[in-house]
Amino acid sequence: MTSKNHSKRAQFGSRLGLVATTVGSAVGLGNIWRFPYEAGTHGGGAFLLCYIFFVILIGIPVICAEFAMGRASRSGVVGAYIKLGGNPRRWAWPGYAAILAAAMIIAFYSVVSSWTMEYMVHSTVHIFNPQPTGNIHNDFAQFIAGPKAVIWVAVFMLINGGVLLGGVQKGLERVSSILMPVLFLILLVFCVNSLLMPGASEGLSFLFHPDFSKLTPSVILGAMGQAFFSMSLGMGCLITYASYFKDDTPLLRTAGEIALLDTLVAILAGVIIFPAVFSFGMSPAEGPTLVFEVLPNIFSRIPGGDVWSALFFLLLFVASLTSLMSVSEIVVSFLGDEFRMKRRTAVLWITGIGIILGSLCSLSFGPLKSWNLFNIFDYISSNILLPLGGMATSYFVGWTLKKKFIAAQINPNGKIPAWLLSGIIISLRYIAPACILAVFIAGLF
Ligand code: PHE
Repeated sequence: MTSKNHSKRAQFGSRLGLVATTVGSAVGLGNIWRFPYEAGTHGGGAFLLCYIFFVILIGIPVICAEFAMGRASRSGVVGAYIKLGGNPRRWAWPGYAAILAAAMIIAFYSVVSSWTMEYMVHSTVHIFNPQPTGNIHNDFAQFIAGPKAVIWVAVFMLINGGVLLGGVQKGLERVSSILMPVLFLILLVFCVNSLLMPGASEGLSFLFHPDFSKLTPSVILGAMGQAFFSMSLGMGCLITYASYFKDDTPLLRTAGEIALLDTLVAILAGVIIFPAVFSFGMSPAEGPTLVFEVLPNIFSRIPGGDVWSALFFLLLFVASLTSLMSVSEIVVSFLGDEFRMKRRTAVLWITGIGIILGSLCSLSFGPLKSWNLFNIFDYISSNILLPLGGMATSYFVGWTLKKKFIAAQINPNGKIPAWLLSGIIISLRYIAPACILAVFIAGLF
């Protein structure tokens, strides 16, 4: 299917760049910050098995569906539904819901992302000018509630805007192609170091030992929600990126690569964090503060801790920047498609709005505690808009566009076995909508 602006639309320059950019979107705070504590507290290996089950059963089919929509329509999320849906009124709404979700995710994601910069810079300063450790818990609480956190949000959004200004090839792709190998390298260095620690085996058994007694229905559903968030599904991010794919990019293979690398990084993050936590006798069940309180505590006790700390927060910074870029690109592409807005103007808008909403979310930890926009945005986007978006995509592709469309996009040269193609269609038609509905209902309570 072609469109008028097909020839003008940006494209990724190389397959490696495309994979780096898309994996860059998937690998983020969800993998390094959220996955380890979710797995650690919810059954270890049992949670991991559930997670992998959902990645294969629902994740890969929905990635394929988003890829197919984006490449066939050569549009961002709203344009894809409108162009492919035939009747624009009927199918535009999941697109608009995705834009709303993107705006909310930018707002709260930029806050946590910007903390990584404070920690990185702080550690770097310590390297040259060692200081007493202080009280890590109070320092963290004070920092996130104060004006410095708001300034970091603005700095982070400006860096994000700077990358977006460069465009698809010279901005997103170039930055991801440099940063993603750096990210994997740092992960590897940390893995080796962690495995050499005295608590390595205890940490690994905490992460991998399957404790099936902890698998309640809500934990199982949580594993699916985690799979969706971690692979950037349900909000048109992969639709937008696929609109920059080449005509011959193999969609199923690329979907498999993204799912594999994303899961690998999540597991590696656990392999890094838990041996350290056990070696220092800390609690692995600290939840969300694991990365910003437990780890700094450990860094403060090991030789060269400031260097390790700077390196770790650089890792987290890279992971969150390449993810935030992708969420912002959803909106940039939408403004370009819908309002014919120039890239530069769209980037200015998204940066401005991001700074305002991000600052309001940041202040939710301080003066604006009673509004708590941070939690509201997190809740509405993760628990309501993303599942609804995923359901809409799978239903739309499975039932409205049907097998012919899927086969033409995923299997243009007939090399994929029939059973695999049928499996994808069955997942999109029945399994994915049913499972997502269950997560949605469970997520509301
Ligand atoms: N996948 C990212 C992470 O794991 C978050 C994200 C969600 C990015 C949705 C884009 C779209 O942190």
